[in-house]
Amino acid sequence: MIAVFSGTGNSMYVARCLAKILGDRVVSLPTAGKDGLCADNDRVIWVFPVYSWGIPPVLGNIIKSIEIDGAGSAEHFAVMTCGDDTGYTDRTWRKTIGRRGWKACGAWSVRMPNTYVCMKGFDVDSVDVAQAKIAAAPARVAAVARGISERSDARDVVRGAFPLIKTYVIRPWFVRHAMSPRPFHSTDDCIGCSVCADNCPLGNIEMRERRPVWGNDCAMCLRCYHICPRHAVAWGKASRGKGQSRELINYVYKGRKDV
Ligand SMILES: Cc1cc2nc3c(=O)[nH]c(=O)nc-3n(C[C@H](O)[C@H](O)[C@H](O)COP(=O)(O)O)c2cc1C
Repeated sequence: MIAVFSGTGNSMYVARCLAKILGDRVVSLPTAGKDGLCADNDRVIWVFPVYSWGIPPVLGNIIKSIEIDGAGSAEHFAVMTCGDDTGYTDRTWRKTIGRRGWKACGAWSVRMPNTYVCMKGFDVDSVDVAQAKIAAAPARVAAVARGISERSDARDVVRGAFPLIKTYVIRPWFVRHAMSPRPFHSTDDCIGCSVCADNCPLGNIEMRERRPVWGNDCAMCLRCYHICPRHAVAWGKASRGKGQSRELINYVYKGRKDV
């Protein structure tokens, strides 16, 4: 089973490429529900984006409580997508899997278009850079699939500079102070189409008087920001003037007829 959490499509794209090669089925979290989850082929492949040099908190919570038939005797693999580098995300994933009494094996990173835009100095990649990353992904995914088939224990991840500081110092601050849904709002360009609400993976956006209102149950995945057809979702002032990453958005887009 390939268990994927994807905010903006990058990880879902990678998961589907892996599924084509390996034949494992893709289960999208958290929407998949709890029934019928099973470690087919004696393995679970976790595919997810790196959030501030760690596992997305929403996925960490899912791993803590999810029931998967056969997970205890299966081998677990991680394929993490990132804009640049992962820090020690592989270590924290290994620990989270280990706490369930499960066996963590190989971990790989795949560089994909950056989606983080909520801080000064962070923006989406230029079109050229994003396209180059997407063009390089299939070969990388093929190599990852080979490693998984061979049941490799690889740690083939781009940790970047100062991984210890990134994962164990900056990340706790980030999770505490920079992952709040409170700054989300819609700008005057909003047409009330509800694409953001219809596509939120946690169902955390409600439409009131044809405007989105964010609740507290947010993954900070930024799908609402990147999927908006009018670029009318903002996170405080920090996302002002930033771009959208829409190259792979249809991998998570549920569609809506009247937009
Ligand atoms: C809240 C947040 C934090 C992120 N932190 C990192 C990071 O620490 N390192 C990195 O290389 N990319 C980071 N990114 C970029 C994503 O990991 C990357 O774009 C990923 O492929 C997105 O996958 P998705 O489209 O499946 O959600 C971050 C993105 C978000 C939304």
